[in-house]
Amino acid sequence: MLRVKIQHKYHLQCTQCGHVTPNFWTWFDQGQQCPACGSKHSEVWYNRRYQRLNRIMKRKPDSFWHYFPFLPLLRRRHIISRGEGAVPVERWNFLEAYAKEKHGLDIRVHVYRSDLNGGTGTFKDPAASMAASLFNELGIKQYCIASTGNSATAYARYLSMAHVNCSVFMPEDAIRTSEATISSYGQQVFRVKGDYSKAKEIAAGYAKIHGILMSTGNIDPIRVEAKKTMVFEWLRQMEQFPDVYIQAVSGGTGPIAIDKGIREIRHLYPELSNPRFLLVQSDGCDPMVQAWEQAEANGFPEGFEKNYPVIDHPATEVPTLATGNPASYPIIAKLVKQSGGTFLRMREAKLVAVGKLTAYEQKVIPGPASAVCLAGFFIALQKNLIKDGETVLINIGEGPNRAPLFLEQMIYTSHNVSNVEECAPHSIDDYRTQLWNDVLE
Ligand SMILES: Cc1ncc(COP(=O)(O)O)c(C=O)c1O
Ligand SMILES: [Zn+2]
Repeated sequence: MLRVKIQHKYHLQCTQCGHVTPNFWTWFDQGQQCPACGSKHSEVWYNRRYQRLNRIMKRKPDSFWHYFPFLPLLRRRHIISRGEGAVPVERWNFLEAYAKEKHGLDIRVHVYRSDLNGGTGTFKDPAASMAASLFNELGIKQYCIASTGNSATAYARYLSMAHVNCSVFMPEDAIRTSEATISSYGQQVFRVKGDYSKAKEIAAGYAKIHGILMSTGNIDPIRVEAKKTMVFEWLRQMEQFPDVYIQAVSGGTGPIAIDKGIREIRHLYPELSNPRFLLVQSDGCDPMVQAWEQAEANGFPEGFEKNYPVIDHPATEVPTLATGNPASYPIIAKLVKQSGGTFLRMREAKLVAVGKLTAYEQKVIPGPASAVCLAGFFIALQKNLIKDGETVLINIGEGPNRAPLFLEQMIYTSHNVSNVEECAPHSIDDYRTQLWNDVLE
């Protein structure tokens, strides 16, 4: 635990009124909000020379802690890490070939493999590592979080490594393997009768009664600071910064963090701007898409971003994305608008087909939320949202490990046999046409 209370590395600044909070322990004492205006949205800024960043980017990272000078931790010895945030950007040729063949587009299609994160194999790992390290440094021993699964699993693991007790509030439809994983680390789970909104409500009450810190969601500066390092990694790994960014969206920390990361280093890279954000939801839980479509139909009137529907008890097979009450929409929608992007809806009935095709062509099995995101790529092409010559980045956030029921639906080559005469060699190529048809029809 660090006892120095004065530091000059960073400060937090309120995005609404500009009030400066000098450090995280003051931020926590203030209830993670601005004491002047009550906003929960503050951003971290560093008193550091960014010229160092170029030098740092020449070396390959072991984790996002590679960017330590630009993260709000004071001592490296407090880092709790499992190699998160050091994942490859891959080029997926089968998607490029498809864009060329069917749409006549010469594009580069990159996939950011967040499913390869060391901690729990989802794109929630860097944020959880940041939180665990910070709590380790500040001596915080209790925390709580409401989550549909992946965030909670990541926090549960990393906080237990930091000896921090983490209470997790999950909606009743959360995936059972997530619950099992969290529980196995010894962190307690409250399975809430109700949806994600209800889980958040009970978690907030619990945090208040017991005076325990709670994750403040998608604008949480802890999460944003960890995830902004994606921008540094893309600059490091990619010849060209993406023109288009595709992600399955629930609350939308991704775009918020990308935007923050870019603003942070704009003075070094004046030509850098947000990619067009194409954010994908499934038709099982698509409040952001609905809100966007309505705003578009009305010509994006002043204040359009404040208007969004709330879906109670969303009926979706992708519980990770089941945010029926998208409180962060006003922030996300503005970013999407400024970037020239849009929200896309995919049909949940197509989920398994997308998963099967990706596993077949790329030998990478996506988790359900990642299949939502990959479906978004095909829809973006159909809607002419990607232009010739552009660079596309698809952020896949999870593998199939915690969604065994989704994985089981990918069985399509099995035969039940009782004697050898029933067994014959096969040719992998024979499956291709059907797999593509299942996705595209
Ligand atoms: C794999 C995956 N993709 C996408 C999302 C949506 O992320 P966000 O809540 O930042 O929009 C999540 C959230 O849990 C996720 O786990
Ligand atoms: Zn303020």
